[in-house]
Amino acid sequence: MEMRTWQHCERCGHELDELAPAPVCPQCGGLLELRHRFFQRGDALTRAFSARRQALRGPDSSGVWRYRELVLPSITAAQIVSHPEGDTPLLERSRISDWAGIERLLMKHEGHNPTGSFKDRGMTVAMTQARRIGASAVACASTGNTSASLAAYAAHAGLPALVFVPAGQVAMGKLTQTLAYGAKTLIVRGNFDDCLTLARDASAALNIQLLNSINPFRLEGQKSIVFELLEQLDWSPPDWIVLPAGNLGNTSAFGKALREAMAVGLVSHTPRIAAVQAEGASPFAQSFQEHFAKPVRVSPETVATAIRIGAPASWDRAVRAIRETNGVVASVTDDEILEAKAVIDAAGVGCEPASAASVAGARKLRREGVIGPHETVAAVLTGHLLKDPGILVRYHQETNPAPPHANRPIEIDASVAEVERVMGRG
Ligand code: F0G
Repeated sequence: MEMRTWQHCERCGHELDELAPAPVCPQCGGLLELRHRFFQRGDALTRAFSARRQALRGPDSSGVWRYRELVLPSITAAQIVSHPEGDTPLLERSRISDWAGIERLLMKHEGHNPTGSFKDRGMTVAMTQARRIGASAVACASTGNTSASLAAYAAHAGLPALVFVPAGQVAMGKLTQTLAYGAKTLIVRGNFDDCLTLARDASAALNIQLLNSINPFRLEGQKSIVFELLEQLDWSPPDWIVLPAGNLGNTSAFGKALREAMAVGLVSHTPRIAAVQAEGASPFAQSFQEHFAKPVRVSPETVATAIRIGAPASWDRAVRAIRETNGVVASVTDDEILEAKAVIDAAGVGCEPASAASVAGARKLRREGVIGPHETVAAVLTGHLLKDPGILVRYHQETNPAPPHANRPIEIDASVAEVERVMGRG
């Protein structure tokens, strides 16, 4: 039978079977990409996707597997390890649009996933594949969200999980989730980039399946953020998709999703991708300034620990995503991230610091005139507010003098008179 899906080395062109277990090309060490032969197009696909939205249970009720023809066509329902996940809301809030100066600012809130971040979309596919090829254990390096997601899905799949996280640089919500879901958690004295190198070496030495976003199956799942967003807009693309960027897996996945959405006729034109980094961890933004003439590496520092990454792994494929979509890469300061986060939080939406980089970046690009006054912008909020409670305690309760949007709690005695007093009616 003709292969429907295979793996293709992005560097040397070597091709491997869909079930080959190597995390990277065995010939040259390049990153692998999944290639699919698509048998359906346009309306036939959109009708199938929309019919599955009625499902109450099973893979069709997942916002990843609903798009399975474009994700992993060969999979059977019985093989799928799904929570389910996806099905995240597309929000619009005037207070946030006004702050960003963008009339039509939509927010795809990936914090509504089961473990509170977009990572679940890639993890359901990578874990499904790991079990399908008979992996005995799974591993990842992480700034916290991938590890929480891997731990939860490994528990579901019945596989032992091993995670490597940077010491002192993982938000409390993420670390505690990872522990609670039962992953063996190694706190590495080093940064994320050190953790990834160690995870790659250790998983190769110990024959453990590596589920970082260098694993091409992760990207297939993460593409569904774009498919779901486009479907929520009735396949009428926004002008821009803005997302925070760290290791560049998601930027790469978005580029692939848009390429394939065009190839199968789901959309007639492509939105522009704007990837946003924190200024202290902005190698990709710096390289973009030089038209990606050469890769840049930095020693990363930012309050947005999720994207505190200095040597992004999915570099080349993210460059391709930016080039193919006529995209841009921007950076925002920690102060801009925290201000955006405070506005998003106070609008009742809420997100973690790295996620706010997308809205902060959209505002900056609008002010610079890169985003036009009447263009529609879809910003991705990648993680949930409660992922990083430490930063909230510092911002609202501890920092002196109080930051602009700080909401200090007020301690009182248990009397109505006290309540009247603080309400200004005493
Ligand atoms: N936003 C959040 C909340 C993240 O956790 C991450 C990455 C990103 C954005 C950036 O995505 O790496 O694909 O460019 N978190 C990874 C982790 C590194 O380990 O959880 P990216």
